[in-house]
Amino acid sequence: MADIKTIGVLTSGGDAPGMNAAIRAVVRTGLAKGLKVKGILKGYNGLLNEEIIDMNATSVSDTIDRGGTILYTARCLEFIDPEYQNRGADICRKYGIDGLVVIGGDGSFKGAQKLSALGINTIGVPGTIDLDIACTDYTIGFDTAINTAMRAIDRIRDTSTSHERCSIIEVMGRNAGHIALWCGIANGAEDILLPGKYDFNEERIINSIIENKKRGKKHHIIVNAEGIGHSTSMAKRIEEATGVETRATILGHMQRGGSPTCKDRVYASMMGSYATQLLCEGKSNRVVAYHGGEFVDFDIDEALAMTKDVDEHMYEVSKLLCR
Ligand code: ADP
Ligand code: F6P
Repeated sequence: MADIKTIGVLTSGGDAPGMNAAIRAVVRTGLAKGLKVKGILKGYNGLLNEEIIDMNATSVSDTIDRGGTILYTARCLEFIDPEYQNRGADICRKYGIDGLVVIGGDGSFKGAQKLSALGINTIGVPGTIDLDIACTDYTIGFDTAINTAMRAIDRIRDTSTSHERCSIIEVMGRNAGHIALWCGIANGAEDILLPGKYDFNEERIINSIIENKKRGKKHHIIVNAEGIGHSTSMAKRIEEATGVETRATILGHMQRGGSPTCKDRVYASMMGSYATQLLCEGKSNRVVAYHGGEFVDFDIDEALAMTKDVDEHMYEVSKLLCR
C-alpha cells in the first residue's frame, strides 16, 4: 500500500443516478483501508472555495437508492485556467488530501488530469447519463436514464395512438446518440435521429408517415437526439406536410433524476471501490472503465484521446426494425 493517508471525493459536471453509490463505495472502501475520507462539495467550485467535509461510514448511509449526488455538483469554468488548477492542488495539500476520486465525464477528467500533473494522485470514475466516454462500455447513470426515458416515451406512445398523432420525443445525450438509440429500439420508434447518422432528409420521414398512415398505423414515434434538436420546428413542418397532428416533447432533466437502477447501483459501487484501490496502490492519472466485460483502468491521457460513436451493429439492427 502506498503512503496515502487521506483521500477526497467529488462529483463534477452533470449529475447522474448512481453517483451516490460510487461516493459511498469510495468512502466505505477508504475507511476499510484505514484512510481518512473527505467529501468535496460542488465539484471543482467547492474545491476552490474549500467546501470540504469529513466523511464517515454514516455520512453515506441511506444514499445508495437516492438520485442526484449528496456532494452536489457544478460546472466550474475557472478550473480550465492553470492558475485555478494550481490553487486547487494547493488546497488539496492544505487539507492533507493525497488522493482524489473525481466522478464525472470527460470534462471533469481533464481537471483530474491537471491535478495529477500537479502532484495530486487523481483517479476518474465515469459518471454521465450520456455514455459518451470512449474508453468504457458503461457510465454511471446511463442505465437509469434510458429506463426513465423509455417509460416516459411509453406514456407518450399511449396518447399518441389515441389521437393518431405523430410524436417527436427529444432525449438528452449532448452530442452523443446513445440514449436516443437505446430508447429508439426499446420504444419501437418509427424513426431514430442520431448525430452523425441522421441525413436531415425530412422528405423521407414525411413520406413514411403518410405511407404508414395508409397502412393503418395509429402513431408515428420519432426519437430525436438532443444533438439533432429543433424538435418543435420539425413537428410544425411535419404536421404541415403530412396533415397528421404532430407534437414535440423534450424530456429534459427528468432523465437525470430518480432512484438508480440495480445495474447503476452495483456498477457504480464496483467503480468507486476500484478507484479507491488504485489510490491505495499509489496510482494516479487513471480512469476506471468497464471494458470487454470487466472493470479495468486506463491512463487518463489515453482515455481522453479515444473516440466512440454509437454501436454500429445496434444502429444497423435499429434500421431494420424501424418502419
Ligand atoms: P462532464 O465532466 O460531464 O464532461 P463538463 O464538460 O461540464 O462535464 O466538465 C465539468 C467540469 O470539469 C468543468 O466545469 C470544469 O470545472 C472541468 N473541466 C472541463 N474542461 C476542463 C479542462 N480543459 N481543464 C480543466 N478542467 C476542466
Ligand atoms: O451531460 C449530461 C447532460 O444531461 C447532457 O445530456 C445535456 O446536454 C446536459 O447535461 C445538460 O446540461 P445542464 O444540466 O447544464 O442543462
